[in-house]
Amino acid sequence: MEYILEMRNISKTFPGVKALDNVQLQVRPGEVHALMGENGAGKSTLMKILMGIYTMDHGGSITFNGQPYTVHNPKEAMDTGVAMIHQELNPILDMTVYENIFVGREIRRHGLVDKKEEIRQARELIAECGLHVSPTEILRNLTVAQCQLIEIIKAISVNAKVIIMDEPTAAITDREVELLFDHIRRLKQKGVAIIYISHRMDEIFTICDTVTVYRDGQYIGCGSTKELDEAALIRMMVGREITDVFPKLEAKIGETIFEANHITRADNKVKDVSISVRSGEILGIGGLVGAGRSELVEGIFGMHRLSGGEIIVKGKKVQVHSPGDIIKEGVALVTEDRKVTGLNLSGSVNDNIAMVAIRKTLSNGLYSKAKARKVSEEYIGKLKIKTPSGDEIVNNLSGGNQQKVVISKWLLNDPDIIILDEPTRGIDVGAKRDIYLLIGSLAQQGKAVIIISSEIPELMGVCDRIDVMAEGHFSGELDRDHFSQESIMKLASDIAV
Ligand SMILES: Nc1ncnc2c1ncn2[C@@H]1O[C@H](COP(=O)(O)OP(=O)(O)OP(=O)(O)O)[C@@H](O)[C@H]1O
Ligand SMILES: [Mg+2]
Repeated sequence: MEYILEMRNISKTFPGVKALDNVQLQVRPGEVHALMGENGAGKSTLMKILMGIYTMDHGGSITFNGQPYTVHNPKEAMDTGVAMIHQELNPILDMTVYENIFVGREIRRHGLVDKKEEIRQARELIAECGLHVSPTEILRNLTVAQCQLIEIIKAISVNAKVIIMDEPTAAITDREVELLFDHIRRLKQKGVAIIYISHRMDEIFTICDTVTVYRDGQYIGCGSTKELDEAALIRMMVGREITDVFPKLEAKIGETIFEANHITRADNKVKDVSISVRSGEILGIGGLVGAGRSELVEGIFGMHRLSGGEIIVKGKKVQVHSPGDIIKEGVALVTEDRKVTGLNLSGSVNDNIAMVAIRKTLSNGLYSKAKARKVSEEYIGKLKIKTPSGDEIVNNLSGGNQQKVVISKWLLNDPDIIILDEPTRGIDVGAKRDIYLLIGSLAQQGKAVIIISSEIPELMGVCDRIDVMAEGHFSGELDRDHFSQESIMKLASDIAV
């Protein structure tokens, strides 16, 4: 048997959208198979069909392990040997680690759940995985990377033959990515196939053997990563050449318009960090996830209590008790977690983008839904947001397109200082480029931009200056002339005093 999984003639139609049009996928045992394609290409949809979350349109066929495969829900998929680690991790946060591993297939003794045995087996599995957490720990207290490993443990423990990873590295640090890759290599040796979805090229070439590319719901091709290079892959994905992945527009750098000095958070997650940015300048904040970068900007925004520090916007000292105090001064923050702070998922694209515009029209004493709609359409075009119309519910958009909606929303507010926390997470290479150009044009208009990113090539590509944080401290600064992957990594892993 050459393939463990064969999907043929798969189509999926949603109201107004043909998400998949007669596509295929063939996966060999023991290979890491990348699915690539622009935002909205249909990758997650295909995987949800495999998990029994969506039913495919008539006419498709799936063969698994040489047998016809028909599953109706994720539990049946798991039982058959297919497990998925989701794009947006949704573990049950108030459950313990061991409960989460055995949920739906509890070990029973005399009809009762045998907690002791579950804990014992969980402890063994966790140790095998090299993870240092207690089986009785609550999931909420774990990092995203640890939660992911728990999901992987779960997949291993049900003897999954195919494990789907949908953007598994979106929220974990470089160090944790290395750990994840070690696990993937071990799974490969056991003959487990991994279906790997990511927009990060470096990962595709590091960990994947084969890649299948989709574009707009269509199958484009499949090839070995050894025979492909980045340019060829991009061409398959977007259907044209993109030579300059990190375009940098020239902007005139002026006066300092934003300063946050000696910021220290009451919970000590940020200790004495100072940043400043000039008009026309793009400042990067680098560091590992957990270094305190998001915590810094959330502190500046009054979302957490500061025990020290001052904030100066355009020369004026600002007392920040809540985000409104600083937004009022023309500072915007595009947060990292779009689901929590960025979006109204059950609202339409228009509602979300236009929310800010409506507020603006309201403050003039006029409410104009038509105007809001027009503004929204403009941004849908500018950022190429893939949606059947502005009336589509945001929840129905692909992950990357939801992120574009968040960005539009904040750009509309026309701030002078814009802080973007992981702005291109989950965004495809073509759309990333559009976002960099947009950021560049903001700088050209004299705005100051601060970008937090875990992707070092991105920071090096678009920033004028990079400040690096490690363990809640400031650990160093580099000018564009002195950018290098190594020097940033070194500062990021610095254990500051
Ligand atoms: N439940 C749904 N209802 C309506 N349309 C949907 C639904 N789920 C997905 N779509 C649409 O199907 C298309 C494919 O979406 P999908 O999430 O599979 O893309 P993707 O390749 O995973 O993109 P990304 O890289 O952004 O995660 C998109 O146009 C999306 O808007
Ligand atoms: Mg997706």
